[in-house]
Amino acid sequence: MNIEEIRKNLNEDLENASESGKLEELRVKFLGKKGHITEALAGLRNVSGEEKKTLGGAINRLKKEAEILIAEKIIAIKLKEEELMVNAAPLYDLSVPSKTAAGSYHPITLVQRKCEEIFASMGFTIEEYPEVTDDYNCFEAVNIPKDHPARDMQDTYYLENGQLLKTHTSAAQNAIMKKYGAPLRAIFPGRCFRNEATDACHENTFFQMEGIMIDTDISISNLIYFMKKMLSEVFEKDIEVRLRPGFFPFVEPGFELDISCLICGGEGCPSCKNSGWLELCPCGMIHPNVLKEGGIDSEKYTGFAFGLGLTRLAMMKYGIKDIRDLNSGKLANLSQFVS
Ligand code: DAH
Repeated sequence: MNIEEIRKNLNEDLENASESGKLEELRVKFLGKKGHITEALAGLRNVSGEEKKTLGGAINRLKKEAEILIAEKIIAIKLKEEELMVNAAPLYDLSVPSKTAAGSYHPITLVQRKCEEIFASMGFTIEEYPEVTDDYNCFEAVNIPKDHPARDMQDTYYLENGQLLKTHTSAAQNAIMKKYGAPLRAIFPGRCFRNEATDACHENTFFQMEGIMIDTDISISNLIYFMKKMLSEVFEKDIEVRLRPGFFPFVEPGFELDISCLICGGEGCPSCKNSGWLELCPCGMIHPNVLKEGGIDSEKYTGFAFGLGLTRLAMMKYGIKDIRDLNSGKLANLSQFVS
């Protein structure tokens, strides 16, 4: 085949090619080892002198031209193929009604918001505190020194950098005292973690809401008033409560505030460990060491603190028997509550 025949042939083939796959065959036909242009170049061995030069130049120009034309054709065909694919994709009809049910708030979010509303109306600020903290804030700053037996009940998850997942919202007390000083009224809800054997009333991940009120002349009567007020508003009825002495290193005196179990009506069930009472809100008068560590003059100021179990509160309010349902992600269980 002479040069003109090869060029004509190439142009015809390019004209007819309509799939990107075919273009590779075409490249082999002209530029492959045994392709027309490669063979024409090999044929130069039989030519000599001036003719070899002219012919060689012409074949090389044709080779370049063929490479460019084939590459351009590949791009053009690919673009066309993509366009066809896009046009063939099914169109979304935005007017079709959705089959997905509307979302809902998690029961813990609902009780948390309710409590925030109640305390905000009584002049408390709502503070945030991270889930990851350190030994100082979680324990030492709240009067739980290293090797104190109170740490045994609060084993947690430690990170490789020495930090830990907070075991209680009391971990935020020190930072908040340092941030605002006294007088102070604040609540700080948050997720807490413990190394727990789980059952109907224990989980390794749960929510608390801590509150502190610090001022001159704060007494246990203030504490009892705020606790009762909060419970009657959350449950929208009077709730039977009892106050027992309780030990927590960061309060003195310390109390356990129990409510009569709303699931069994006080008869005893797995949710209340068969006692008829549920520990809901341990509390007490802030220990002077904790005030001092937070930079507050413990001679001048006193205060109360409480650690409300938000998870337990949600269980009581909504009659959820097993704490594990709350972390289960089962929408049938979790989406039935409204505020
Ligand atoms: N931080 C305690 C716990 O999780 C609960 C607690 C008890 C908080 C007494 C308080 C308090 O503020 O006064 O076990």
